[in-house]
Amino acid sequence: MSLKISFQHVKKEQMVSFEENKERVAEIDRMINERSGAGSDFLGWLDYPVNYDRYEFDRILKKSEEFRNKYEILVVCGIGGSYLGARAAIDAVNGVMPKKGRMQILYLGNTLDPNYSSEILEYIKDRNFCVCVISKSGTTTETSVSFRILKEMLEDKYGKDGAREAIVAVTDKEKGALKQLADSEGYETYVLPDDIGGRFSVMTPVGLFPIACAGIDIREFMKGLQDARNDFSSPNIFENQAYQYALERNFLYEKLHYRVEMMATYEFRLKNLNEWWKQLFDESEGKLNKAVLTTSATFTTDLHSLGQFIQEGSKILYETIIYIDNPSYEVNVPYDRDNLDGLNYLAGKNLSYINRKAYEGTLEAHSETGNVPNICINLDKMDAYNIAYLFFFFMKACAMSAYLLGVNPFNQPGVEVYKKNMFHLLGKEGY
Ligand code: PA5
Repeated sequence: MSLKISFQHVKKEQMVSFEENKERVAEIDRMINERSGAGSDFLGWLDYPVNYDRYEFDRILKKSEEFRNKYEILVVCGIGGSYLGARAAIDAVNGVMPKKGRMQILYLGNTLDPNYSSEILEYIKDRNFCVCVISKSGTTTETSVSFRILKEMLEDKYGKDGAREAIVAVTDKEKGALKQLADSEGYETYVLPDDIGGRFSVMTPVGLFPIACAGIDIREFMKGLQDARNDFSSPNIFENQAYQYALERNFLYEKLHYRVEMMATYEFRLKNLNEWWKQLFDESEGKLNKAVLTTSATFTTDLHSLGQFIQEGSKILYETIIYIDNPSYEVNVPYDRDNLDGLNYLAGKNLSYINRKAYEGTLEAHSETGNVPNICINLDKMDAYNIAYLFFFFMKACAMSAYLLGVNPFNQPGVEVYKKNMFHLLGKEGY
C-alpha cells in the first residue's frame, strides 16, 4: 500500500472511536456496494477502474500520441470536474514549469475572466495548438463560450479539415449540445459515462485524455486506481484507511464542531490537487446547511502568512497534511567558505531534508502547542500510479463521509441557482 494515514498528531480527546462506529461504517459500506443510498445512480466510478472500455482507452492512447507528435500545446476546455482532476494529476507528475519536449497543457473554459482568456488566446494564436473540449452536459456557459472561440481560431488557422483533426470532445454518449456539435463536425469523441459525475470523472477520458497528452503513462494511472479500489474495499473500519479518514473528519465536524478542514501540502506541484480535493468534498457535502468547509495551503510558503492563524487564531480548523516521502528531484545546499549567511550547518544537505524537518516541526507546533488536530497522509512518491491511488482514496472517503453526514454525495443542486440568475440577466430564452 503506497499510502499511509496517521492520527498520531490528533489528541486522544479529538479522536473518534473506531470500535463504537464499526457497525455504522459497515452499514454505509453495504449501502454503497448495494447501490441503495441517495444518488447511487452515480456510483459508476466504483467499478470503472476494472470495467472501463478498453477499445476507447486504446483510441485515447493513439490520438494523444498523434497530438503529442503534431502540436506544441493542448488547450483543455472544461470547468469544475471537467478539468480539475486532469490539472491536478498533470501538475503533480510533471511539475508546474513547462518541460522541454513535452506538450504544454493550458486551460480555458474554466472562467469568464476576459483578461485571463485573452492572455491564453494571445499566447496560443501563433503557436501550433489543439483542443480537448470536455463537458458532460454540453451546455456549460464558460466551456461553450470558450470553445466557440477556440473552434473559430482553429478553423481560421488550419481550415475546416485541419480543425477537425485538432479537436477532440469528451461528453455524454448521446445527449447534449456538445455531442450534437461533435457529431455534426466529425470530431473524435470519448464518453463520460452517465453514472459518473464530473468530480468523480478523472479516471474516465475526462482525465485520461489530457493526462496522456501530457506524456504521463495512463496504464500506470489505471493500475493505481485498480490497486486503490482493492485496498479501500474493506467494510472494516480498522482495515480501511479511506473510511478512517472519513469517520474522523465526521467526528471533528459533528461532535467537536470544527468547521474548516485545511489541506496542507509541502510541494507547489500539489496546489491543484488541493483544488480538486476542495471541489470533491465541498460540492459533494455542502448541502442541507451542513458540512465542513475545505480550504488549502502550501507549506512552508503559507506558514509565513496563514501560519499565525493556524497556530494561535480561533480554533475552527483542523489540518490534513499530504506529505510525499520521496520527491522527484533534489536540490543541494552548497558549502560557502565565508559563511556570512550562517548557513554552513546546512551545507551538503538537500532541500527535501530541510522540507521534512519543517514538516516535522510544524506538525508538533500545530498539534501540540496549537491544539489543532493534524491528520497525516503520507504517499510514497508523486507519479501516475500514486496520484491515481490518492484520487481513489479521496473519492471512496468522500462517499463515506457524505453518507455519514446524511447528504447525497453525488448531486449539486446549489450550483444551479447562480446559473439561473445569470441566464435571466443575460436574456437566455426560458429564463
Ligand atoms: O462535478 C461536477 O459535476 C461539476 O463540477 C461539473 O463537472 C462542472 O459543472 C462542469 O459540468 P459539465 O461537464 O457538464 O460542463
